[in-house]
Amino acid sequence: MYSKSDTERLNIQFADASAEELLSHFLQIYGKKIALSSSLGMEDQVLTAMLVGIEPDARIFTLDTGRLFPETYQLIHKTNSKYNIRIEVFFPDYTQVETMVNQEGINLFYETVEKRKRCCRVRKTEPLKRAFQGLEAWICGLRNQQSPTRKNTRLIEWDEMNNLLKINPLVEWSEEQLKQYIQTKHVPYNKLHDAGFPSIGCEPCTRAVEEGEDIRAGRWWWESPEHKECGLHRR
Ligand code: ADX
Ligand code: SF4
Repeated sequence: MYSKSDTERLNIQFADASAEELLSHFLQIYGKKIALSSSLGMEDQVLTAMLVGIEPDARIFTLDTGRLFPETYQLIHKTNSKYNIRIEVFFPDYTQVETMVNQEGINLFYETVEKRKRCCRVRKTEPLKRAFQGLEAWICGLRNQQSPTRKNTRLIEWDEMNNLLKINPLVEWSEEQLKQYIQTKHVPYNKLHDAGFPSIGCEPCTRAVEEGEDIRAGRWWWESPEHKECGLHRR
């Protein structure tokens, strides 16, 4: 297992490796102590296809915030059926959801950045902490081109907040590369991508984007770009 001091060396070692080579290496070392955190977005669907090809029992989990699009639930089912897997689903603590909603309202996130962050904390970050129990490394679909907040994201990082090795195998991939992989390998994807949604999160906090608009322009669109992180990927 690696520690924080290994990350620089690992970035150099894997600079020219393919995403599959990278995944194979870390799966071999971490086994059940590594998992893909999947939002069912294009990146995570590509990573799921790669992982299943390498190790059919590789761990993949998703956080069901309770506010996802119906299309996302359909995709969970479709992905499980296609690859004969069962994506692990983590739900928020219902007492925290009830307290929050009864105090602040069902759609509190539109009111202030603080309230939006509270909702993300209750519905995503807290369940993520439970998902991390027993893990030593996590795989994510972050890409440099996704947003200004992600342009410095590295292939391999140390997640200080959670004390885990964080691996972003697609960090340098373009949207075009993703689409090509999905097409050639017949990877199931969210139907909303065809309707102008390049980045998909919770239904009330995601809208379609116009041609030429930023990939994440439709996420929390009422906030300024520097706030657009939900706390899963704090920098
Ligand atoms: S978010 O943090 O703003 O929601 P985004 O949708 O771009 O992030 O996803 C970036 C990465 O965060 C995904 O590739 C995935 O690894 C992780 N992630 C985001 N949402 C979820 C979710 N609901 N469940 C599990 N992982 C998620
Ligand atoms: Fe809540 Fe929106 Fe964050 Fe989803 S994205 S957890 S609905 S604030």
